[in-house]
Amino acid sequence: MRQIWIPKAGPPEVLEVKAAADPRPGPGEIRIRVEASGVNFADIMGRLGLYPDLPRLPVVPGYEVAGRVDEVGAGVDPGWVGRDVFAMTRFGGYADVVSAPLVQVFPRPSNMSAEEGASIPVNYLTAWQLIVAMGGLKAGETVLVHSAGGGVGIAATQIAKHIGAKVIGTASAGKHAELSALGVDWLIDYTTEDFESRARGITGGRGVELILDAVGGDSLKKGYRLLAPTGRLGVFGVSSTVTGKAAGYFGMASMLVKTPWVQFNPISLMNANKGVFGVNLGHLWGEFERVRPWMDELVRLWRIGAIKPKIARVFPFDEAPAAHHFIQDRKNIGKVLLKP
Ligand SMILES: NC(=O)c1ccc[n+]([C@@H]2O[C@H](COP(=O)([O-])OP(=O)(O)OC[C@H]3O[C@@H](n4cnc5c(N)ncnc54)[C@H](OP(=O)(O)O)[C@@H]3O)[C@@H](O)[C@H]2O)c1
Repeated sequence: MRQIWIPKAGPPEVLEVKAAADPRPGPGEIRIRVEASGVNFADIMGRLGLYPDLPRLPVVPGYEVAGRVDEVGAGVDPGWVGRDVFAMTRFGGYADVVSAPLVQVFPRPSNMSAEEGASIPVNYLTAWQLIVAMGGLKAGETVLVHSAGGGVGIAATQIAKHIGAKVIGTASAGKHAELSALGVDWLIDYTTEDFESRARGITGGRGVELILDAVGGDSLKKGYRLLAPTGRLGVFGVSSTVTGKAAGYFGMASMLVKTPWVQFNPISLMNANKGVFGVNLGHLWGEFERVRPWMDELVRLWRIGAIKPKIARVFPFDEAPAAHHFIQDRKNIGKVLLKP
């Protein structure tokens, strides 16, 4: 098999394709011939040495794949062999052959491409947890989606629109036209406009009922103020720590200094009638009985056309560095994939 390794922290060019023996599926596992692997922002943070959950380097990153089952381990129904699937991987997804526990594998509908399948797990489960499972968004409410042009942002917009909510998105200006066409009701160029005052204006001073924030730092302070009474702030990332393409900790230090550590405390939350919650899909590995029903519902929504991954670009394995550059240059609108 071929795998893409992060041998050491550094710029995209550190990514390296290497050959290795095919893995054998262990008990309860299936083996997948991978046709597409998802690239996530966490992989970029991992490459920069900014992702605490990543195992020690060198490592093969990657949280999600899609392809066809070619072998099963002990205790797994051999009927899985030959089936098209998509799966979550606890790292190791940047590979053309992957073994994964069956509980992390989902059958792929016959008309769902491998590219679409590999685009669903991380982006859509995260968006579902933020909007439905914990955010409790309802028809008629307004959600502010930061980084609306990213994979999670587009998934969140589709789910919110399906619910009947209104979406305010923040994104680089060059992404606005396409994001409007994808259903975002109002767009804010956070690089030139203050998102707090713009969103307050859009909502007639009322504020928003839900905010999805993976930027971190200052953004949380403003977001908390922007919540309407009963509003919820979902915190799920710290992309503001990524300030360059080489390894460095300046962005991390700056984010930590700007984080409103004392603004959300039990007394202020109570008196403001506001909620703050956190989402980290990577810390739900032991909770698949909770997560699988979310995926069942997402596949149902995909079947009826209510959600559809937007694929920004597919890069061959040998061009993995270009895939990371593409995201860090803020060129992607939607999902970036690697194809063996
Ligand atoms: N907690 C979880 O379980 C979980 C799961 C998935 C993702 N996340 C987090 O959610 C965020 C978005 O993930 P994604 O997969 O949707 O992202 P993505 O598709 O890789 O796109 C990145 C998006 O983030 C914005 N961005 C903000 N800061 C950036 C930076 N320093 N460099 C490049 N782009 C930056 C870009 O939009 P603009 O150009 O408009 O700024 C872009 O749309 C990330 O922080 C990620 O770590 C968390």
